[in-house]
Amino acid sequence: MYRTRNDLPIDTRSKMIAILNSRLADVIDLRTQAKVAHWNMKGLQFVPLHDLFDRVAEDLDGYADLIAERAVQLGGVARETARQVAASTISRSTRRLATWKSTSLRLQARLPPLGGRSGT
Ligand SMILES: [Fe+2]
Repeated sequence: MYRTRNDLPIDTRSKMIAILNSRLADVIDLRTQAKVAHWNMKGLQFVPLHDLFDRVAEDLDGYADLIAERAVQLGGVARETARQVAASTISRSTRRLATWKSTSLRLQARLPPLGGRSGT
């Protein structure tokens, strides 16, 4: 953590920096998705949607700047390179999948077996 004139407690700033870096990953990920949509647009609505996705990507660039610079103002480091964004979004997706699987297994365990008393 870098020294800063910000007088928030260091614990608060650390938590905020972690949240900001997580949201920064989300914004960068979303920006790349908007660019992919922009590049791959086809069909009758090509012109308006191609332009729309480009404007969305430009707007997200601005939000990424705001978030990254706020993390630095709080004494942190803006950490999200493309490689870090990929690792971060993949690990969050993996955690969500693991949560979904365990919830699914718990629900499955509560269901009566197929072909039970009412099955015939
Ligand atoms: Fe373009």
